[in-house]
Amino acid sequence: MDLLRQRSRTSVRSVSLDCAPMARTDNPAPAGAQLAPHVLVLFGATGDLARRKLLPGLLHLWQAGLLPDFRVVGTSLDPLDDEGFRKLARQACDEFARPGISDLQRARFEERLSFVPQSGGSAALSAAVSTCEAALGGSPRRLHYLSIPPSAARSVVQVLGRAGLVDRARIIMEKPFGTDVASAVELNASVHEIFSEDQIFRIDHFLGKEAAQNILAFRFANGLFEPIWNRDHIDHVQIDVPETLGVDSRAGYYEGTGAYRDMVVTHLFQILAFMAMEPPTALEPRPISEEKNKVFRSLRPIDAAQVVRGQYDGYRDLPGVDRQSLTETFVALRCDIDNWRWAGVPFFLRTGKQMADGARIISIAFREPPKSMFPAGSGVGSQGPDHLTFDLADSSKLSLSFYGKRPGPGMSLDKLSLQFALHETGREADVLEAYERLIHDAMVGDHTLFTTAEGIERTWEVSAPLLEHPPPVQPYATGSWGPEPMRQLIAPRAWRLPFARGWRSI
Ligand code: BG6
Repeated sequence: MDLLRQRSRTSVRSVSLDCAPMARTDNPAPAGAQLAPHVLVLFGATGDLARRKLLPGLLHLWQAGLLPDFRVVGTSLDPLDDEGFRKLARQACDEFARPGISDLQRARFEERLSFVPQSGGSAALSAAVSTCEAALGGSPRRLHYLSIPPSAARSVVQVLGRAGLVDRARIIMEKPFGTDVASAVELNASVHEIFSEDQIFRIDHFLGKEAAQNILAFRFANGLFEPIWNRDHIDHVQIDVPETLGVDSRAGYYEGTGAYRDMVVTHLFQILAFMAMEPPTALEPRPISEEKNKVFRSLRPIDAAQVVRGQYDGYRDLPGVDRQSLTETFVALRCDIDNWRWAGVPFFLRTGKQMADGARIISIAFREPPKSMFPAGSGVGSQGPDHLTFDLADSSKLSLSFYGKRPGPGMSLDKLSLQFALHETGREADVLEAYERLIHDAMVGDHTLFTTAEGIERTWEVSAPLLEHPPPVQPYATGSWGPEPMRQLIAPRAWRLPFARGWRSI
């Protein structure tokens, strides 16, 4: 199913579910009703991701009429029962779900949730799924969501095999997929012992962001930009995702992962591929994956000398963190893509926790004109090159900056910009949060926005020099932009953030 046809199929409008009785398939919207009923088995159901995104996301998908009749079996290492899990889900949805859901809707959503502790093993899991399937009737589909660290993935897949939950099933696997090339290859092999490739959905939620998909629309639906999308016109690209939040309750996961594995080898590389890929022959899973994988194949192995690792002050004092920890909470690096389109165009990537600001931007700096006829002091070039900037926030924005004449006598130049914000379309309410979009795609069986075994293994392969010989971690103050050497990394260029001029409020 291609991306564009799917776009029209998934138009979202909230539907009222208040009056529909529980006993029948009470999801009136056609988009969800066209799907077979589903039992969703959620591993890591009491974890941070489930609370912040997955449970509130399911609630929204259901409320928007995009889910078929469904049940959720939550499971984790915690010894909860159905009631305890429903309470956890209620609290999570109170805190993180979109407003506008009635108590009745909430209660009817919760009725569909059940829980089985992981300590019960495959037999208990199988029984819990059978109970849900009997309630749904017929032969519902199964969707297993593994919201668990990479080290636990293999044993959970085996539990699913022993529990007999492979038929009619799809499996969503969270990133990072493995921790290096050897573990990714091994994990792919062990998952393939149980599930076939078409059942596997390796999720990278950045690809589910509306703004990330808009990169494809922007590049390939317009004749204007593609001719300049190459080394002749582009000086460099920045993919910059600073975060203000710290590691907090996720220290246990983060300490063994770090910023590079958590964000770069996953989200930032996937975005880089969307930016750098050749036009696919069709907007379908295989051609898109082929072009992305070619970018990964062309990526030069990461040069550790072109990487700055940092750790924020106070990180080592967090519970669950080694007092001598060398885990990086910040990373900035230069990547090079060895192909005709991008030869000589550096891609600078940066991300970190506890930084000065939270943002997700992609910034393309264009080359300056070969010759300037403007008088000295006119202002041309004084505010950097022309930029095209994508803001990947949920409420996404786009800006094209350029020099234009300042009104009045003489020829002075100012930096001006054309800007677009998603809310101007009047369709902001239709935006699906990234996890919502991808859970729905997995239910539909659409792999377009998921990553492939080949792509993942290659991104680990290019990461090997860095993972084997990482440069030292350098401390940085919380609320800063990272350790100072990140400036030398990009010099003589400069990081776009913090922006010299803010987004225009439109
Ligand atoms: C997750 C990382 O995958 O992405 C987190 O594990 C990070 O560390 C998060 O904070 C960022 O996602 P978003 O959608 O909030 O930008």
